[in-house]
Formats: sequence, C-alpha cells, structure tokens
Amino acid sequence: MSSDHPRPAENAAPGPAGAAATQQPADETVSDAAEPDPVPEPDPDAVAITVDGKAFTARKGELIIAAAERAGTYIPRFCWHNRMSSVGMCRMCLVEVDSGRGPQLTPSCMVTVAPDMKVDTESATTKRAQEGILELLLANHPLDCPVCDKGGECPLQDQAFSHGPGESRYVEEKRHYEKPIPISDLVLLDRERCILCDRCTRFADEVAGDPLISFTHRGNLTQIQTFPGEPFTSYFSGNTVQICPVGALTATPYRFKARPWDIETAESTCTTCSMGCRMVVQSSRDELVRHLGVDSEPVNWGWMCDKGRFNFQATNSDDRLTVPLVRGEGGLAETSWSVAMSTAAQLVTEALAAGGPAGVAILGGARGTNEDAYAWAGLADALGIPNRDAQLADGMPVELLALPRATIADAAAAATVVLLGPDVKEELPILYLRLRHAVTQGKLKVVELSPVATGMTPYAWRSVRIEAGATAAVTAALGDHEIADQLRVGPVVVVAGRANLAESADAASAALRAVLDACPGATVLPALRRGNVVGALQLGLAPQPGGLDGLGILSAAAEGRIDLLFLLGADPMSDCPDADLARRALAGARRIIAVDTFLTESSGAADVVLAAASHGEKSGTTTNIEGRVTEVGKVITNAGTSRQDWMIAAELAEHLDLEALVATLVSVDAITDMIATTVPAYASATRVALKTSPDGVLAVPAADPGSYPAAVSGAPDRISYDYRLVFTRKLWDDAVMTAHSPSLAALAGGVAAHVHPLDLDRIGVPAGAEVRLVAARGSVVLPLAADEGVPRGSIGVPFNVGGSPLASIIDATAAATDVRVERV
Ligand code: SF4
Ligand code: FES
Repeated sequence: MSSDHPRPAENAAPGPAGAAATQQPADETVSDAAEPDPVPEPDPDAVAITVDGKAFTARKGELIIAAAERAGTYIPRFCWHNRMSSVGMCRMCLVEVDSGRGPQLTPSCMVTVAPDMKVDTESATTKRAQEGILELLLANHPLDCPVCDKGGECPLQDQAFSHGPGESRYVEEKRHYEKPIPISDLVLLDRERCILCDRCTRFADEVAGDPLISFTHRGNLTQIQTFPGEPFTSYFSGNTVQICPVGALTATPYRFKARPWDIETAESTCTTCSMGCRMVVQSSRDELVRHLGVDSEPVNWGWMCDKGRFNFQATNSDDRLTVPLVRGEGGLAETSWSVAMSTAAQLVTEALAAGGPAGVAILGGARGTNEDAYAWAGLADALGIPNRDAQLADGMPVELLALPRATIADAAAAATVVLLGPDVKEELPILYLRLRHAVTQGKLKVVELSPVATGMTPYAWRSVRIEAGATAAVTAALGDHEIADQLRVGPVVVVAGRANLAESADAASAALRAVLDACPGATVLPALRRGNVVGALQLGLAPQPGGLDGLGILSAAAEGRIDLLFLLGADPMSDCPDADLARRALAGARRIIAVDTFLTESSGAADVVLAAASHGEKSGTTTNIEGRVTEVGKVITNAGTSRQDWMIAAELAEHLDLEALVATLVSVDAITDMIATTVPAYASATRVALKTSPDGVLAVPAADPGSYPAAVSGAPDRISYDYRLVFTRKLWDDAVMTAHSPSLAALAGGVAAHVHPLDLDRIGVPAGAEVRLVAARGSVVLPLAADEGVPRGSIGVPFNVGGSPLASIIDATAAATDVRVERV
C-alpha cells in the first residue's frame, strides 16, 4: 500500500454524461412509444479509447495514466502525482499506445488520450520496458528495506514485486552517501534511496511556493539538496515525506517508530485549525505515530501543514492531564472522577443559587467535536446559561456565519477573492495552498486589504495596506477604479476574519461591511481560527440572546460579576490577545471549572480540572470554515482516565439531576443522530451520510445577511508620532499542542517589533536594538526588526510567541492600540 493515501474514488474524474443513460435500469428506459426518448447530444468532451482491449470513455485532455486508472487499470508510476504537473522523469509508466500509427512505447503520464487510441498495459513490450526501468532504478537503490521506514508501504518495493524483473544483471557496487542529512528540523534525507522522481522538488516549488530543495550535480551523482545555508523551512515540508515514493525522505517524528503492519489507522479530520483537512490518524502500540493527508477534493487535496501533521506528539505527551484535579488546602490535587464531578456539581449549584444563570459563563469548546459542543450547549440550555462563546475575544461576531457562505472550492474558483482577515499562510495554511494554486493557474485574482504584508501578498493582484481600525481606508481602496472594476467581475468571495488582534472586532466588522456593501453579491468564507470553532458556534456555544460574548464574559469576570466560569479547553491566558483582561478575569471569577488536556496557566487557576480526551482518542464529527461536517477518528485509548467532553457534560448533568438531558447523552452516535434531527442546518449530516460521503456533508445555516452588525465608526486617527500596533498569529507559536510536540516546540521564532526600515531611521536606532513600546495600558521592551512588509507608522508583532509580552498592553475593547516608541 502506498502512503499517498488518495481515495480511489477521488482520483476519478466525473464519468461521461452520456454514460448514465446506459446504466439506467431497463424499466426506466421504457417510455411512451408515441414519444421516443430524444437522442442524447454527443458529449463533446468524451474520448473513446480502449484499455487492454476494453472500450472506455475518457475525457478530453485526460492523461492516459489517469484514464486507465478510472477504467480500472493501474499503470505503475513513481514521478506522476495527480496534484502536480507531469514531468515524465521516471519512465515507469511506459505502456504501448497505438494512436493509429502502430503501437509505440509511451510515457502514459505525459500523453493525453485521443480518439480511438488503444492502450496496452500488458503487452510483452510494455512488460519488458517496465522491468527494464525497475532494474535500472534498483541498480543504485539500496536494498535496505528491512530497516527503511518506507518498507511495507513503498511504491518502489511494491512495484518491484508487481512489475519488476525478479532478478538484476547489475553486480556493481551501489552509490553511497553520508546518511541521513537533515534538510530541515522535521525532514531527513537518505540520498542513496532517492530515485530522482522530482516529486518533492516539484511539490516545494509548484504547490508550496517554497523552492528550497532542488537537484544538484549531474549524471550518476545527481541528488536532492537544499541550498547552502538555507534549510527546507517550509510550513509544508511533511508533504514531501508523504509523497516520496521511496524512503529517501523521512520525518523525524516517525523515523524508526513503527512499521506499516503494526499500525492502526482511522480516517479523520485535522482540528489544528478550522480548515478541516482530511487525514488518517495512525497509532502503533496504542500511541499516535503519524498523521497522513488524505486527498479530499473539496478541502485539502491530500496536503497538510506541518503543524497539523506533527502535533499528534502532544497527545502522547507525559505532561497530559490523566486524572481530574480538585483544589484543596495545598492547591490542586489529584482525585477520583466521582469526587471531582460532585465537587463540580456543587460549584454549579452554589453559583446558580448565588447569582442565577446570568452569573455563569462558558468559554471555549472549539477544540472539541460537534458532539462535545452539542452536549455542553444542552447542559447550558438546561441550566439557562446565556453567556457562552467558543471565541476568546479574538474572533468575529457569530452573525458572520449567517452571511451567504462560500465553500473553499467557491473561493478557489472565484474570479476575485477579497482577503480581509488573517494571514492565511499562518492561520489556515492549506487554504493558502488552495488560493495560491488558483492564482498561479491564472484563474483567480486576490485583492488583499491588510495592515501588513502577508504570505499571500506575493500572489495578490492588488495588496493594499489598511491601517488598523481605518474603515475609511477600506472604502477608499474599494473605490480605486481598477479594484472596483475587478469586483464587478463575479463571483467574488470575501475571506473574512481578524487581520489584527490589536484591533477590535467592531473595526474588523466595519471593514467587512464596507466590502459587502461594495460587492452585494459576494459570498463569505469565514476565516475563524481554532479547530471546530464553526461547529461549536453553530451548535450552541455562541452568545445567546441577552448573554455575553467572549469579551463580555472576560470583562464581567474581571469585574467580579461571574460566579462560575467554565473553561472548555480554553486558555485565555495565552490565547486571548488581551492578557491583562484574561488575568483579571481568572482572578475575578469566583469559581472556575476547567475541562482540559493539559494544565495550562488558565486551567491551573481552576477549582476543578477535568481531564479531557485529546485528538486521536475521540470520535465524533467537526465542522470546518465552509460548514463541512466530517468525522474524526479514534485510534488509541484515552490517556489515563481522561474523558471526552460530551461525557463530562453528561456526567455533570447526572450529578445535577437533569434526567431528561442525561437520557439523550448516551453515546457519540446518539448525539450525532440528535444533531441531525434537531439542528436544521445539520439535517443532512446523518451518520449514514457521513459514512458514505468521506468528504463530508455541508451544514450551513440559512443565510440572514441582515443580522450582521451594522458598521460602527473606526478607530480615531493615530497621533502622527505614535505607531499603530498590528498583532498577528504565526503558525509556529507557543500554543499548547505545539509546545508539547517535541519536534515543533523549538520552531516558534523570537518576538520582535517589526517596523518599516525608514521608521528605523526615524526612531533613530538600528535593527536589533531594544525599544520600549508605551501604550495606555503600560509598556513592554522588544528588539526592533526591519520589515518592508510593515507600512510606515505601524508596528507588527507576532502573537503568542516568546511569552507574548505585547498581550499585556493590548486593550481588547479599544478599536486599535497605539504606542509611543522610546529608546532604552
Ligand atoms: Fe523523489 Fe523522494 Fe528523491 Fe524527492 S527524495 S526526488 S520524492 S525519490
Ligand atoms: Fe510517468 Fe514517471 S510516472 S514518467
């Protein structure tokens, strides 16, 4: 089995339109004799070919190798990959093709089908050619399969058995290289195993846009190399390991960890960000060992970012919470579930008696499954708790989800995408790959309106710097006649989220409103972060009428108005842009019950900490940014006695005598069924539908654009000698799953204040020198870094990196945050 993990059905192009008629049951083709069926129009894209003597209708422009696969005939290959350009490097796919001038050996990954073409994949000539290629490839390839990580799932090994000659005429010494050489922190290269198929190099160049690996040397010495002094620091490097058809590229977290035959596999969904990439999660000896991307046509095309691919290590971490904790005289202490649950129930009862449901709040839920969110929303409903939010004062109004929704495919197929949100390369990396692909194919124009340059800027058709909070600048940018003309060319998709965490959600909403007013027909792809944030919000962990949102909950807690705060996998201390507010909220909430996988700074402040199951330990469903519901898979037993969030909600409900609710929360499957029957948007997300549609089912609430908040005025103008802060997330940060994944923990960069080089002169200090940034809230000292991507008058700082010092001076309630820069 190859570890490419495409689903066979997915490589299949849609069948010929005319084919359906021939598959109709006989009785359906019988019609009124007086009115014979109209003769179907010939399909202009249908190309009649034969594959090994069998007639097949291929599609115009389809490669022979792909058409043969759809016809049920596998042609061996190494270099061809259905998501990359054909290069014809390995010649393994040679087959005899007769296009009317007699059979000729043809590389089937380089030639498209033609009418009446005859493809022979089994002729003696084809076999001889394929055997010859394998013999040649194995002339230098080491026969170290017993110790090679690819052994057992290696296309070269498999095809040597299925299509190879059985013996070799080569007796010469094989090539040797120093091995392995690290080409990045995550990827190792064993050069003597490389068969020079160009898959990794093509991926880095074509797909990721990080051409950091290339062929060097010539002839027999040709090899893959990085450039001197430039490691393969791509967010997507793990994909090269997955698509390498031999064991030349291996990932440090998996090397020598497991063999394919002792691996348990479940198809799942990555919940690291809200893109919802399909993947398989694999374990060996009850420990997670690998994530592999699955080729889902509407979502990730088989790709994953390195964060989602390798952060399974955190699930295996020894630091995981494995038992519940209850605060006593000496602080938090381990206890039994029955003691923890009765303590939690008592805290709930006391809080409700003290201040009623309005004094209770639930923060978080986006790290769980839909079933977890539904169960906790059910508990909140039963107790009448209106204050709930799966976003931590860093998101958008929940009404964003009621705007006419675009799918990821809609965005990739649009004429124009307006990027009005975070740096997609940093926060939704596979959305970046999908948009980048559409741009490089010349199909999409991206209009980027952002406070600083982003990973998408080099691919944007227009990239306009919008100072944080300056809504008028958005309107002015949209008034540019070229941009205005382009926006009239539909379809337009707006990717909407928070570009700057040092700017209020109101300011981001006002900018979105300006864009929607300028393109009334536009649809919206919400760029909200956190794995299942959309599912959690859609299933009830959103502010209820009269209830508080994330910012409101934190502010109320800080003012001592919250008697009991639930943290559902939420860590406001590191995950809320306003760290001071988070600290005051945790200190001000009378009681805290945390449900978490790790003891964080936030859950460490709780009175009761309930150990939660992590990814790979739980089953259920999640919903991605476009509203696609897919399943997550369980392959290992939970760490210690940790439990899935929905079970914790059910048990708490039992302790609170909420019998009607307890009767419904009996299993993941039962909750999935209940979601489908009680939540209108999820009506088609039945278990049967989810099992039979591995790409998932769309669950999007009916659009209600009128519910989106009206524009508010933007931030006041900046005083000319102040700088406006831009606080942005990076892929490599100190987030809990990353920090507990040994191979990723060191990848977060340092923290610095990025300013335009001309502003360095104005400040009067060189890059690298430390300065004090003074805001209304206080000051922090940071080194300066010169950055052309930051416009003059702004300062860019990464969030949740290097202790996130800036978070202590951000005021989440302010439209924007300005600082004075002082030399120290
Ligand atoms: Fe192909 Fe692997 Fe060699 Fe890259 S390292 S060229 S993917 S065999
Ligand atoms: Fe066709 Fe490599 S698969 S030449």
